[in-house]
Amino acid sequence: MRLFGKTALITGGNSGIGFATAKLFLAQGAKVIITGRNQTLIDEAVAQLGQNAFGILCDAGNMQDINALPNKISKLSDTVDILFSNAGVGLFAPFEQTTEKIFDANMEINFKGTVFTIQKLLPLIPNGGSIVLNATVLAHLGYETSSAYSASKAAVLSFCKTLAIELAPKDIRVNTISPGPINTPIYSKMGIPQDILQEFAAGVQALIPMNRFGASEDIANAALFLASADSTFMTGSEIRVDGGKSITF
Ligand SMILES: NC(=O)c1ccc[n+]([C@@H]2O[C@H](COP(=O)([O-])OP(=O)(O)OC[C@H]3O[C@@H](n4cnc5c(N)ncnc54)[C@H](OP(=O)(O)O)[C@@H]3O)[C@@H](O)[C@H]2O)c1
Repeated sequence: MRLFGKTALITGGNSGIGFATAKLFLAQGAKVIITGRNQTLIDEAVAQLGQNAFGILCDAGNMQDINALPNKISKLSDTVDILFSNAGVGLFAPFEQTTEKIFDANMEINFKGTVFTIQKLLPLIPNGGSIVLNATVLAHLGYETSSAYSASKAAVLSFCKTLAIELAPKDIRVNTISPGPINTPIYSKMGIPQDILQEFAAGVQALIPMNRFGASEDIANAALFLASADSTFMTGSEIRVDGGKSITF
């Protein structure tokens, strides 16, 4: 029960990494509020998560929704002790076919949403609070078709460091997890035909030293470490959870 008595807000908590983290945080005694962009999916996830789980509709790319979030949370909890900014999309395209729409969606959901969700929720985060960001190892790498996505996550990594310094006097820690390839529904949301997706996945897997995609639970475990008192002297840090992917040629 490493999170007993804590309230955690997990953005994009109805699926993949966010959902696995919600499950783990609940098992560790936290009250968990998830957000998402689809009320039906949020309701289904909250029903599966069970007692102590709550859901709020909040589009991470929509400032009106983000501005309304603190008031909605305050009906469920006085504090947000742990904020896992996880909601994200992976919209890939060759550079020459990267439209303004693709660029904006990556930036607005992955980066701008992260920045302003934290800014608006900061009054609810007490001393001793922990903010965990979700980036990607691609923030460090060159990877074809990922110019907008990778840059949005590189911005998250940079933001983590500045915010960690600004919030240290309040005893609020800010750290980032950078996942490698994790087996979640994000890939099926990219609009790539199933056969091409499978070929792509096999190619990626062959390049991972541990020769497998990670599981959402691998990231949830890192999030628990950063959220809990086990990491009280860590701020501005990044944990890569990637099966060794980012250390290879
Ligand atoms: N899977 C990987 O290989 C990998 C690697 C590196 C980093 N990441 C990062 O990990 C995070 C979680 O991704 P995942 O792999 O768990 O994918 P996922 O299963 O698709 O989960 C993403 C979550 O974010 C939500 N979301 C997307 N756009 C949103 C918006 N505008 N407003 C609110 N919620 C929104 C999704 O809602 P819907 O269910 O309605 O789409 C979903 O709940 C992302 O930030 C992603 O970039 C993933």
